[in-house]
Amino acid sequence: MSQAEESGQQPDGRPAESPEVEAAVERVDADGSDDGAVVEAADEQTASDVAVTKEPEQSEGFVATDGAVLGRDFTLPGVAPGDNDPYKWHTGTKRDHGGTDAIEISGLVKQFGRARILNGLDLGLPDDQISMVLGPSGTGKSVLIKCIVGLLYPDAGDILVKGESVPELSDDDLFELRKKFGLLFQDGALFGSMNIFDNVAFPLRQHTDKGEDEIEEICSRRLREVGLGEAHYKMPNELSGGMRKRAGFARALVLDPEIVMFDEPDSGLDPVRTALLCELIREVHNENGGCYMVISHDLNTARRIADFIAVLWKGRIVESGPKEELFESENEFVHQFLRADVTGPLAMD
Ligand SMILES: Nc1ncnc2c1ncn2[C@@H]1O[C@H](COP(=O)(O)OP(=O)(O)O)[C@@H](O)[C@H]1O
Ligand SMILES: [Mg+2]
Repeated sequence: MSQAEESGQQPDGRPAESPEVEAAVERVDADGSDDGAVVEAADEQTASDVAVTKEPEQSEGFVATDGAVLGRDFTLPGVAPGDNDPYKWHTGTKRDHGGTDAIEISGLVKQFGRARILNGLDLGLPDDQISMVLGPSGTGKSVLIKCIVGLLYPDAGDILVKGESVPELSDDDLFELRKKFGLLFQDGALFGSMNIFDNVAFPLRQHTDKGEDEIEEICSRRLREVGLGEAHYKMPNELSGGMRKRAGFARALVLDPEIVMFDEPDSGLDPVRTALLCELIREVHNENGGCYMVISHDLNTARRIADFIAVLWKGRIVESGPKEELFESENEFVHQFLRADVTGPLAMD
C-alpha cells in the first residue's frame, strides 16, 4: 500500500463527518462505476498488501513472545504500569449466538503515541441481531467503531465486514463499503447549517443519483419512522437532544444499510427518552433487519435492546455472547460490570 493511500485512511482525530465524505466523493468521481476487471486488479493488489499489514513489526518489542505484557513500553487503558497480568479475567469466551457473523475482528491493535487503546482485540458481531459493546468509559469503544468503518487505520490485526478486509481496501472500495454502513454518532452529528430534511437527504444526494422526488419519498418515510414527520424544515438547533438523535438515526437509515452503528445513543438523554429511543431502535431493527452494533456503558440500554453483548476492557474483549448468558456469566469482571457491583476487579483509578 502506498504512503498516500495509507495516510488517506488515517484521518486520526478528525470529526467523523463531512471531510471524509467529501474527500471520498472526489475519489469516486475520478473512477466512476467499477467493472469486473478493475475489481480483480484491486483484489490482486490487496493480496500483496496482506503480507505487509500482517507483519508483526509494530507489536514486537511491546509484547513478550509468551503473550504476557511484561516490559511493555506502552500504556493500556485501565492497566497500572506494574500490572503484569492484566488479562486474568479475559477468557475471551465467545458463546454461540446461533447465526453467522457480519463483522469479524481479529488481533486488532490501535495505538496513539504510547497509549495502546486496543491490544489484540478479537470479536465477532452477529448478522441480523442487535449487538452491544459495553465497557467502562475511555476503554476505546469509539476507537473500535472508527476502525470498523475505516476512519482509523489499525496498527495490526484485521477487520472483516461481510468477508471484506477493511484495512486492505483501497480508498475507492472503502467508499463503496461505507455505503453499507449507517452511523449514528453521539449528538446525531447533524450539519448545523442545513435543515432536518436536507441533513437526512445528504447521503442520498452524495452517494446516489436518485432524483429529488425519490429522495423526498425516502426521507419523508424515514423521518416518519423516527417520529419526525413534522420536523422537515426545522434547523438542528431548534430540536431537543433526543430529536437530534432521531434525525441522525433517520439519516443513518436512508441508504438501507446492512450494518448500523450507534455510538452511545443514550448519552445525554433522560431515562424515559433513553427507553423510547431503545424501543425505536428495536422497532426499526425488527422492520429492516441487519447487523446493529450499539456502543454504550449503560446497562439499562443493554437490557432493553441487546441480543448479543461483548464486554470490552483493557483493549480486549473479556467475553461475548447472547445477552441472557452474559448477564448470568460467572466471569468475575463481567459479573461485576453487568451488575454494577462496587466490589470486583474493576476499581476506581
Ligand atoms: N485520534 C485520537 N488520538 C489520540 N488519542 C485518541 C484518539 N481517539 C481516541 N483516543 C484516546 O483513546 C482512548 C479511548 O477513547 P474512546 O474510544 O473515545 O473511549 P470510549 O468511547 O470507550 O469512552 C481515550 O483515552 C482517548 O483519549
Ligand atoms: Mg466513546
